[in-house]
Amino acid sequence: MDYKKLISNGKSVREFKNDSIEEKYFTEIETHITNAKRLLPKINIEVKIYDKKDCYEKLKNIAGYNGYMIEAPNYVLILSDVSNGYIENSGYIGERLILKGRDLGIDSCWITFKDSHAIKEKLDISSEREVTAIMALGYEDNKNDKNKSGSERLSVEEIVYMNEWGKNANVDELEERGLLDAFNYARMAPSALNRQPWRFIIDGGNIILAVRKDDFNNNYEGSIDTGIAMLYFSLIIDTTMFDLQWNLDNINKDYKIPNDYEIVGYCGI
Ligand SMILES: Cc1cc2nc3c(=O)[nH]c(=O)nc-3n(C[C@H](O)[C@H](O)[C@H](O)COP(=O)(O)O)c2cc1C
Repeated sequence: MDYKKLISNGKSVREFKNDSIEEKYFTEIETHITNAKRLLPKINIEVKIYDKKDCYEKLKNIAGYNGYMIEAPNYVLILSDVSNGYIENSGYIGERLILKGRDLGIDSCWITFKDSHAIKEKLDISSEREVTAIMALGYEDNKNDKNKSGSERLSVEEIVYMNEWGKNANVDELEERGLLDAFNYARMAPSALNRQPWRFIIDGGNIILAVRKDDFNNNYEGSIDTGIAMLYFSLIIDTTMFDLQWNLDNINKDYKIPNDYEIVGYCGI
């Protein structure tokens, strides 16, 4: 798959035609994510696919921004075992699913929610696992009269620091180190309310990822946003340089990170 093209052409779609997605495409998507690299391979997940009639009315008021559920012909849910980093892991898998869908011409949007238990109850899911992702899938309605591209993003210099917080990286330096491309695609990651909460600090051979936590979003959204940014960064490094591994532990070093941000992981480069 041409990840750069798929990421560049990405946008959230919220108005869909009635046409359902062909079953063979769901099979293809599921096979793809089953075989693809994972952030935390030991965490078991399952994917559930729904038609509008079995999902839309039931999740009205309990999923979506302020309970505004997106109306779509199909929905995909991820259920996950609960273990350290499981939501980030679902963000990583969920966005990979979205990219594979896009490759097949399928449009999509993440749908936020607060209470896995409530979702499971409404959808009559008896699994012990937690709901960790909900996504609307379908084919965009009125494709030609809408915005062709997604929302605005911060620049690479605004989200990448050298050595410590606030020392903005410059593009030439990143280019020289072969990292410009990966950051340039990472910054295109979708995030809840387009908050773009991620900041990267380059510290020698390590890249530290810090994410903003604030009153407007919950930890769930921040963790999904983290998983998506980790996926985008590693997709580019994986295809151009080497097999990148994110570590979700904290790193015991003072990077002068402000209180409203926290380190969520790092990787070696
Ligand atoms: C974790 C997460 C939750 C989201 N929840 C919703 C949602 O409930 N409703 C919605 O319309 N968009 C939702 N979005 C989509 C974002 O608003 C969108 O990705 C962001 O505004 C950037 O726009 P773009 O994807 O078109 O570039 C969500 C995105 C993420 C990553």
